[in-house]
Amino acid sequence: MTEPLVVLDHVDKWFGSLHVLQDIQLSIGRGEVVVVIGPSGSGKSTLCRAINRLETIDKGTISLDGQPLPQEGKQLAALRADVGMVFQSFNLFAHKTILENVTLGPIKVRKQSKADAEKRARELLDRVGVGHQADKYPAQLSGGQQQRVAIARALAMEPKVMLFDEPTSALDPEMISEVLEVMVDLARRGMTMVVVTHEMGFARTAADRVVFMSDGAIVEENTPEEFFTNPQSDRAKDFLGKILKH
Ligand SMILES: Nc1ncnc2c1ncn2[C@@H]1O[C@H](COP(=O)(O)OP(=O)(O)O)[C@@H](O)[C@H]1O
Ligand SMILES: [Mg+2]
Repeated sequence: MTEPLVVLDHVDKWFGSLHVLQDIQLSIGRGEVVVVIGPSGSGKSTLCRAINRLETIDKGTISLDGQPLPQEGKQLAALRADVGMVFQSFNLFAHKTILENVTLGPIKVRKQSKADAEKRARELLDRVGVGHQADKYPAQLSGGQQQRVAIARALAMEPKVMLFDEPTSALDPEMISEVLEVMVDLARRGMTMVVVTHEMGFARTAADRVVFMSDGAIVEENTPEEFFTNPQSDRAKDFLGKILKH
């Protein structure tokens, strides 16, 4: 087996007395798509933020592509460029055009020329279906379109891995599928992805593995098929019972 791209080894984190990540062991292979699922407050966002070093950890190690996550400085900026992140809230720059939102990072961080960055940005915006909106401002786009721009913006940095933290949960129902379609396409193209979502359709279509978290720990992991049809732990059964009723 080739070396995994992201490795969390015995990771612990506390917020005060709250043990928010408990001895997390998780290896994500190159090109693998891992869906993280679990109740609110179980530590899913903290896990994602730790991989991006938006949160520090107290014990254990996290490595990306064979290197431990850098602590600070230039290496940390480079890490942020290598780990793309898409949040529930789209976080686009309101006073920049869609095109500028996508070219900013490549020009500033990746030191691309404006012309190269714009060419690549237009390709990515076309790929996510908003190429014709390039000169507009974020507020002129729907939530689904803005989230697709946020994905294009992250991809423009040529990340090694993409993290998605509930990317569709702030969207109106009719806009969810257009964002999920972009993510399914990305998975098919071989991107390594960690996706926090309760969208079981996405998990079944695109995930190689489902990781179920509860109270800061990984309680269960399995293929989507096995996990959804045959959960092992009481906590997973209870959780699936609740989300399936909706
Ligand atoms: N910065 C913080 N300070 C203190 N507690 C936090 C902080 N961020 C998250 N928490 C707590 O950590 C737990 C896990 O949060 P989170 O990772 O956001 O869970 P999830 O994404 O699964 O809903 C929750 O109890 C939350 O209230
Ligand atoms: Mg969360």
